Amino acid sequence: MLLPQLLPLLIVSISHLCSGFPSYRSLAGLSERDQDAAVERLSTEAVYPPSPPAPMTYNGTKLVHDEAHPWKPLMAGDIRGPCPGLNTLASHGYLPRDGVVTPAQIITAAQEGEFWQPQKGISYDAALTATYAAMLVDGNLVTNLLSIGGKTKKTGPDPPKPAIVGGLNTHDVFEGDASMTRADAFFGDIPGFNHTLFDQMVDFSNRYGEGYYNLTVAAEYRYHLIQQSIATNPNFSFVFPRYFTGYGESVLALNLFVDGRDDTTVLGGRKLDMTTALSFFRDSRFPPDFHRVSSPTGSEGLREIMAAHPVRPGRNLDGKINNY
Ligand code: HEM
Ligand SMILES: *[C@@H]1O[C@H](CO)[C@@H](O)[C@H](O)[C@H]1NC(C)=O
Ligand SMILES: *[C@@H]1O[C@H](CO)[C@@H](O)[C@H](O)[C@H]1NC(C)=O
Ligand SMILES: *[C@@H]1O[C@H](CO)[C@@H](O)[C@H](O)[C@H]1NC(C)=O
Ligand SMILES: *[C@@H]1O[C@H](CO)[C@@H](O)[C@H](O)[C@H]1NC(C)=O
Repeated sequence: MLLPQLLPLLIVSISHLCSGFPSYRSLAGLSERDQDAAVERLSTEAVYPPSPPAPMTYNGTKLVHDEAHPWKPLMAGDIRGPCPGLNTLASHGYLPRDGVVTPAQIITAAQEGEFWQPQKGISYDAALTATYAAMLVDGNLVTNLLSIGGKTKKTGPDPPKPAIVGGLNTHDVFEGDASMTRADAFFGDIPGFNHTLFDQMVDFSNRYGEGYYNLTVAAEYRYHLIQQSIATNPNFSFVFPRYFTGYGESVLALNLFVDGRDDTTVLGGRKLDMTTALSFFRDSRFPPDFHRVSSPTGSEGLREIMAAHPVRPGRNLDGKINNY
């Protein structure tokens, strides 16, 4: 998540990079008509360069799956990407439902709908933050819009555009290998939800968490995903920033997908049931009656899961498996 402190950096980077960017660079497969509609709709909110929204004050847990934010199925042209957090916020209208967003909307929605907040003094959160900032710079700099995905455009009246650029799906910019529920890019195209991988996550939750995903499971499953990619993906890469975001996502799921009435600030005490996990990961959907976290949460637990099975950043060399 973006630290407000990093936004000036982001703005500097944006103004540094902005000249010469094609105006719809990152609108990721939207037809011209959709692009025009999105730009039209957002033109009142899109400021250039983006001005950071004021940090929000945390008000405690609350119902976020409320009447004002019903889940709705995708309509033709809606974009979803590799992040179950952002996908869910879009499918409930905390973000624009078409998935074409401004950085400011991401910051506000993540606080309003989930209350993700980087924890002070945790360097990994700073790393994650920097990554997100870098990724956002990859968004469309003229319109201040980016897509939360890229290739998930549903077939609509206009055929999807073949050239996919920008957006969160961009491999090695932000999207990376060894994801919990998305296959590595090497195995074909831009990853969507993969049920085989989700079943592995369920299996690990059964083996190490009595059916729940908890910090022990997060550590074991993360280690397994890395070993699995080392053994199967000759192109496997797990270096900065992916190294941190990979570990970070393993704890984000635990920290932010557990209902705020059931969660606990005791590190390691949280546990995520698999029905809820499937709802977020596959359906981009809050469970019925879902309440956001009971205290601002970021990547706590990350140090612990890294320490459980230390792995250094690296990659498989020379296009060979088991060559990390
Ligand atoms: C609202 C809080 C958020 C939550 C709960 C969340 C949660 C997650 C989780 C659990 C994953 C792992 C998916 C998997 O491995 O199958 C993930 C992936 C991802 N997230 Fe988020 N996220 C949040 C905010 C964000 C933000 C603010 C951004 C960027 C602006 C972002 C971008 C991504 C991307 C690009 C991925 C894919 C990385 C990959 O696995 O290759 N997320 N997120
Ligand atoms: C806290 O409550 C105020 C007043 O209702 C609201 O404006 C603000 O957006 C809330 N903050 C969050 C993070 O939901
Ligand atoms: C799902 O992931 C597994 C393991 O990486 C892979 O073998 C399989 O081809 C993937 N399935 C789809 C539909 O992409
Ligand atoms: C393998 O990695 C190289 C270098 O990063 C990249 O150019 C290539 O597209 C990748 N191949 C596949 C199939 O992912
Ligand atoms: C996770 O759940 C398992 C099974 O209940 C338990 O043994 C383990 O201690 C839990 N992990 C943490 C960090 O609490």
